[in-house]
Amino acid sequence: MYGSDRAGDDAERTAFRKTEKKYKLYYENSKSTKKKKQPKQVDLSEVLDFKSISESFNQNGELPPGVVHVNFGLDRPIFGLENRPGFYFIPGALTLDEQCTWIRESLTNFPQPPNRTNHNIIYGPISNLFVAAKEGKVFVEEERSDNGLDSEPSASFYEEDIARSRGKTCKTVPASVLLRKLRWSTLGLQFDWSNRNYAVSLPHNKIPNALCRLAKRMAEPAMPIGEEFRPEAAIVNYFGSGDTLGGHLDDMEADWSKPIVSMSFGCKAIFLLGGKSRQDEPLAMFLRSGDVVLMAGEARECFHGVPRIFTDEENAEITPLELRFSDEDDRCFLDYIRTSRININIRQVL
Ligand code: OGA
Ligand code: MN
Repeated sequence: MYGSDRAGDDAERTAFRKTEKKYKLYYENSKSTKKKKQPKQVDLSEVLDFKSISESFNQNGELPPGVVHVNFGLDRPIFGLENRPGFYFIPGALTLDEQCTWIRESLTNFPQPPNRTNHNIIYGPISNLFVAAKEGKVFVEEERSDNGLDSEPSASFYEEDIARSRGKTCKTVPASVLLRKLRWSTLGLQFDWSNRNYAVSLPHNKIPNALCRLAKRMAEPAMPIGEEFRPEAAIVNYFGSGDTLGGHLDDMEADWSKPIVSMSFGCKAIFLLGGKSRQDEPLAMFLRSGDVVLMAGEARECFHGVPRIFTDEENAEITPLELRFSDEDDRCFLDYIRTSRININIRQVL
């Protein structure tokens, strides 16, 4: 599912793949190597914008064709799509405070062992990555002991000068590079990517109670009356400029009637919601910081992905967040989120 950004003839031929290519970040060929690379212009006129839909709905009750208002007695409107039962969009569902909290957690606590990240397979568990990047430290890979018992290396961060001397014999990587290359971490039940299942026996930290409460509250519109959502696993996705999440299905959870609760933070993105086949033409929509999407019922069986995030000032739409991180102490969060998007994707597994 991740990194499924394969080229290849078959992939090119599906409607989903075509739409991904339409929105993906490409750069203009420029002859001069001195000039900054310019992103190719993309036609965004067909991208559904639930922020402006929400604004005009609040003003005059009007909705574009295909979009429905789900009356759920909350203080803000929730929207659905006529031909995608089980899909819910809650624009601006999360307050700025909530956004800041979960951005901080996603960068500091969520990637901490025993939670797994995409770095595990190469480097073993890594502790305190964000702080190390902030302090300009360098990661030094320890020798792997091949006794099979602790074959996962416990690598550590060092000051640059120490790393340089050790670096003569060991491999070294700046922590900032590892932070930039952090693509996912997992909370709660750990997903085993190689076997494509939930590894119930893998050690893990529980999803924090505050996040569980938030997810339960958000999931309500998509839950059968009287039932409560049980958050058991979460995948945190990290996107930098040019990063994408290829079209996929989330089909590893036992009970598809329960929603996936998906929260967006940081730079604006384009989300594609397709149909049950990759041949179905997907619908494109913007996802902004604070938006929440629910996928339940039929929508659970639909291909979806993120072909684009916008890191330029005009399109990222994160000025209010930037102001919240304007303290000198928060410099590192600001620097990260300016060019990044974080998605927390919460599931009920069992
Ligand atoms: C996922 C997913 C969507 C997003 O993690 O399975 O679909 O908005 N994420 O990043
Ligand atoms: Mn998904």
